Amino acid sequence: MVLNTGDAPTPGADTEPRALARGFNHLDPAIAERAYETLGTIRRGCPVARSGELEGFVLVTGYDEIREVAQAPDRFSAYVDGLGAAAVVTEMREAVAPMFETDEEHHHQWRRALMDFFTPAVAAAQEQYVRAICRETLQELIPRGAADLVCSYTQQVPPLVIGRVLGLAELERAWLSEHVRALYDAETLTEAQQVGRVYADFLLGQIRERRSHPARDLLSCMVTAEADGHAAGEDELVKMTMLMVAAGHLTTADSCATAILQLLDDSALRERVTGDAGLLAPFVEELVRCEPAVAATGRTVTADTQLGGMPLSTGDRLLLAWGSANRDERHFADGEVFRLDRERSRAPHLGWGAGEHRCLGRHLARVELRVMLEELLSALPDFRLQPDATVRRTFGVIRGVAALPVRWSRR
Ligand code: HEM
Repeated sequence: MVLNTGDAPTPGADTEPRALARGFNHLDPAIAERAYETLGTIRRGCPVARSGELEGFVLVTGYDEIREVAQAPDRFSAYVDGLGAAAVVTEMREAVAPMFETDEEHHHQWRRALMDFFTPAVAAAQEQYVRAICRETLQELIPRGAADLVCSYTQQVPPLVIGRVLGLAELERAWLSEHVRALYDAETLTEAQQVGRVYADFLLGQIRERRSHPARDLLSCMVTAEADGHAAGEDELVKMTMLMVAAGHLTTADSCATAILQLLDDSALRERVTGDAGLLAPFVEELVRCEPAVAATGRTVTADTQLGGMPLSTGDRLLLAWGSANRDERHFADGEVFRLDRERSRAPHLGWGAGEHRCLGRHLARVELRVMLEELLSALPDFRLQPDATVRRTFGVIRGVAALPVRWSRR
């Protein structure tokens, strides 16, 4: 087994890392607690390795290898079947979501069309709204003295924000928020499919409304944008809007939950960021390095090629473990450790992705997370875990925390 050297592993050797990789399934809830320990062992032994799970895929855990894939859309397509979350709207399976799942010129045209809604200035302009809904949500919580901060705070704010960015009216944002939470809380696939159908119909109504009366909002822009001379079809738009909501909501909600857990675990860190709100921006950046909410996304090989010495065939599916790249000892000293004062590595962390699909919403996410944490620390200064609480982390496409049962002094 090769440890910490970055050397190529012995081809074909049946090492422990290879055995771990062969059985690795990011969608298995059982891996969540030790996900980064397992990924670290795999990365140090074989940064590119085959898994036999989910009908077979190639697990990529090394920084250089993940970056190479993300920066070569001519060899690795963003369209991938079967490594993401289960399809809750079955008709949508065949549709390819513009931008998210397309590559090169088609992708560039879409990205250029939407760019203006995701600039730092547009993100900054959302700050007041984010702060207002954080305050409103927290004002209702204060007298209760106890709550699960995941369902009553971290999951409350982001769906309203992405709803506003899309251009939904206030009541529609509340509808969206309620239904996306019901979707992700569903306990069975059948239940998720039922909610998913209602949700898809709602989005279709919004899309049709904007086809006939386009406004100056993100959803109208998605409905009217053209790539290669064509606007997107209805199924493509519904899928794209679902992915846009998930990209804006799940990532931010789960990042915020992970951030709160980090603060509960480390009282010195909590004291520092509570005393100096200016530290929240670097805190968020280190969080996205160490515990990125987008934990693993896929690519499909479009032409026979090689990666990290492993031959790959057209059609092979790759899973990029972004958080593992960010802990790669070849680039990040003590990468497993959360360090607020971490010196900037010459290699940028990959928590926001890399290459042409790099996170479009990162400026917005930074604003949301900073404000959500600042308002929480100010409204519930002494929140602490319930004495009998067990906290369960989650892992999959998205990394987060299942529940945060806490209490605080009532005022
Ligand atoms: C902490 C929160 C977030 C993290 C860690 C994050 C991370 C990522 C990552 C890693 C990717 C690239 C995935 C890939 O290449 O396979 C991505 C793409 C994307 N993100 Fe985020 N994201 C976050 C928040 C947001 C928010 C709030 C939005 C707002 C809508 C957003 C919108 C997008 C979009 C539209 C893409 C696709 C870009 C493209 O395909 O060109 N993200 N994000």
